[in-house]
Amino acid sequence: KRVLVLNGPNLNMLGVREPDIYGALTLKDIEALCAETAAEVGLSVDFRQSNHEGELVTWIQQARESADAILINPAAYSHTSVAIHDALKAAGLPVAEVHLSNIHQREAFRHHSYVSAVAFGVICGFGATGYRMALTALAERLK
Ligand code: DQA
Repeated sequence: KRVLVLNGPNLNMLGVREPDIYGALTLKDIEALCAETAAEVGLSVDFRQSNHEGELVTWIQQARESADAILINPAAYSHTSVAIHDALKAAGLPVAEVHLSNIHQREAFRHHSYVSAVAFGVICGFGATGYRMALTALAERLK
């Protein structure tokens, strides 16, 4: 089974960007961790990042044809994007939402995510390990 792993805006800056909040790992490092975990649990991953809301929406639409599940860290779009919410809902695939940081411990504007209502599970605050946890949960779910 195939999981589309989507990363939203500014996550290409990981490692450089606020490492005290987001950790020292780069997005490449997280991609490598995901590949390792996917192999362990028998999934294949298609790992992508975009700074553009519309590009993420298009990829989510295409996932109907090319993926069995979606793991998404929508980054700042979590808190703003009805378009990503709608696309995920329409895709009809299991969605796991991941945040590196604990969004509930941070500014009030990060406490609500439009994605959570269309996700079967949400993981936040465990850094890159959250991606591994979500892939493991998706593998269970797709059995
Ligand atoms: C984030 C949390 C968001 O609030 C923030 O805008 C991000 C990253 C996280 O992984 O902790 O860019 O999704």
